Amino acid sequence: MSDVLSRPARFGSNSGQPVTRRDGIAKVTGSAIFAADNAPDGFLHAVFVPARIARGRVTHLDTEAAQAHPGVTHVITPQNRPPLQGDPSEKPTMFSFRVEVLQDNTVRYAGQPVAMVLGETLEAATEGARLLAPRYDAEPARVRLDDSVPYAFDPVGFGLPADVEHVEGGHRAAEKVIDVTYETASQYHNAMETHAVVAEWDGDRLTLDMPSQALALSCAGYAHFFGIPAENVTIRSPYLGGGFGSKAFPTGPQVLAILAARMTGRPVKLMLTRQQMFGPVGHRGATCQRLRLGVDGDGALTFIDHEGLAETSSFDDFVEPAAGASQGLYAARALRSAHRAVRLDIGTPGPMRAPGEASGSAALECAMDEMAEKIGIDPLEFRLRNYAETEPGTGRRYSSKALRECYAQAAERFGWAGRSLESGQMRDDNGLLVGWGMGTALFPCPMFAAEARATLHPDGTALVETSAADMGQGAWTALAQIAADSLGLPLDKLEFRAGHSGLPDAGVAGGSGHTATAGGALHAAGIDVIRQLGEIAAADPASPLHGSGNAGFVARDGRLHVADDDSRSEAFADIISRAGGAGITGNGSASRPPEDAEKHAMSSHGAVFAEVKVDPDLYQMRVTRLVGAFAAGRIINPRLAESQLMGGMIWGISFALHEEARHDPRTGHIVNADFAGYHVPVNADVRGLEVITVHEDDPYVNALGIKGVGEVGITGTVGAIANAVRHATGKRIRRFPIRIEDLL
Ligand code: MOS
Repeated sequence: MSDVLSRPARFGSNSGQPVTRRDGIAKVTGSAIFAADNAPDGFLHAVFVPARIARGRVTHLDTEAAQAHPGVTHVITPQNRPPLQGDPSEKPTMFSFRVEVLQDNTVRYAGQPVAMVLGETLEAATEGARLLAPRYDAEPARVRLDDSVPYAFDPVGFGLPADVEHVEGGHRAAEKVIDVTYETASQYHNAMETHAVVAEWDGDRLTLDMPSQALALSCAGYAHFFGIPAENVTIRSPYLGGGFGSKAFPTGPQVLAILAARMTGRPVKLMLTRQQMFGPVGHRGATCQRLRLGVDGDGALTFIDHEGLAETSSFDDFVEPAAGASQGLYAARALRSAHRAVRLDIGTPGPMRAPGEASGSAALECAMDEMAEKIGIDPLEFRLRNYAETEPGTGRRYSSKALRECYAQAAERFGWAGRSLESGQMRDDNGLLVGWGMGTALFPCPMFAAEARATLHPDGTALVETSAADMGQGAWTALAQIAADSLGLPLDKLEFRAGHSGLPDAGVAGGSGHTATAGGALHAAGIDVIRQLGEIAAADPASPLHGSGNAGFVARDGRLHVADDDSRSEAFADIISRAGGAGITGNGSASRPPEDAEKHAMSSHGAVFAEVKVDPDLYQMRVTRLVGAFAAGRIINPRLAESQLMGGMIWGISFALHEEARHDPRTGHIVNADFAGYHVPVNADVRGLEVITVHEDDPYVNALGIKGVGEVGITGTVGAIANAVRHATGKRIRRFPIRIEDLL
């Protein structure tokens, strides 16, 4: 098939269809088996005890009381914990954090495991854990993001080189300058399915039922702790109830449950409670961001200087790279983004859906709105005046960028042209204050590395395999569509196996790059099959395709056609049967060659417009309309892509108005660590929500032209909502989430 290597790849009829989720019925009827649904013979329940202080030492655990409780089989503490082979402070893979696995009695953050209890029933283990009643020697905890803390350090690897002189030149050239500081709250990934594992040892082989966004990396990570080769670890992860970044890494509680299984010789099941999600499994760190912007007399940006202050734990170093959001968006003549971080007595933050961009663009989009207002021009017009034709930070050309179309289509649908420039001018029929705001969305499109295998059976059906993770985003459906097209088969002739570490490695379901990466590998595997099939047919005198090899073939509906003579074709099954009836297996891989990444800047873009209504007396805020238009390259499944983008925009509502983990300053404990106190939007908070996908052909981003839709929806939305609140009320709130009391 000669044409398949040209770009963009040739596509069949499955891609582009709004196919419903192939796993939908299994999920809504409860027949989908999630990790903690597994109950191997003789398994024990594990429950860990989270620290109730944020800094200090555990001085006493009532192990006798716990051990004496009926049904409790084991109490694991730092005193009797069996050794681990791998050092928990080491990072065995690029997707690793340091984990707390009862190394000692030290407490480094609230929620850290300080003991684990095993029991014959969940009730027994839970009661045993309660009976341990830890006593502490507490020290004052540092939990507030505050750069007076003497632990400030400069993380390397984020941000542009600090070209201060250049930026000061931009400052001197500016006619008007703003200097504003925005704060964003700490947020915790709260996937519907909490972290879980069912661990079972067989000699030095380990089988884990565990939700994972990165199966091969997780195998390598867990293998490190137990001193076994990565190939001895099997992870089964057919379904995930959400991930958002937090399920891509080995976590301390899961390591402890695996250790417990080895210690007892019995399978062990652990599932975190909702409260236990707040601490040991990552979060989006709070930020404090200072933005300085300058414009010349024409409203062209002379500089953007974006400094992010981020929190990290006392023992690891992930920081939210928020200021990076300013590197790729607006055509400022001078650009600087820099980060500092402070060590706090908190669990280590980690990547959480649109890490960096979500927090960074919230601040940037508000600052852009502030500048537009200062110079008295429409916020959309201000962004168009500063539209970047090449990536500002690097000068690279974009692989594609249909952002202008996004602005135009979303503004038109929203009715933006009718907006008053002044704040506080609009009221609805019920006397509510009405405000309109907008923001630009941007998220880069990284790729990981993936492999896949495709097997065409003699009956003309096929099996495709890759260890892809469906977190709920629909990978199981969209990836199957890509695979079916590469093989020229209807979707129902295809069996798609994923979610198992024994399959070819699909890489990481993260960075909004899973469809592009795993899909690229599936596509290549299908093409490898079709190439082999074509060679067989072309060499077979009995085939109508005999001798047509140089022209190439197109696979469609289970038949191979000569590329330049569609009337010459033969069914796959006939070709295989004459060749002896053995199935044909093909392999494929995908990753982005570094030279491609050097040549082009690659990002998904979008424009989000928000309407809020605010009660003039109570200041209750409602997002009444959100319209987002996004350009993200080829859309494999419009239904699923729109669903992803909507989910992102809803997260934007959450970021702007709801989500915040609050620490008790006295103990460092998170006081709202459950869904009663930690607010996320419910249906009543989500009114008119509209997603437009803007057509975009991208010949450079990858062979399939796919950019990714998983995270970009959050990025423009937060600023759009905050700007709408300002437009409604005249009040500029520089702290997220925006609360009623901020408006009083
Ligand atoms: Mo995401 S934070 O790349 O799972």
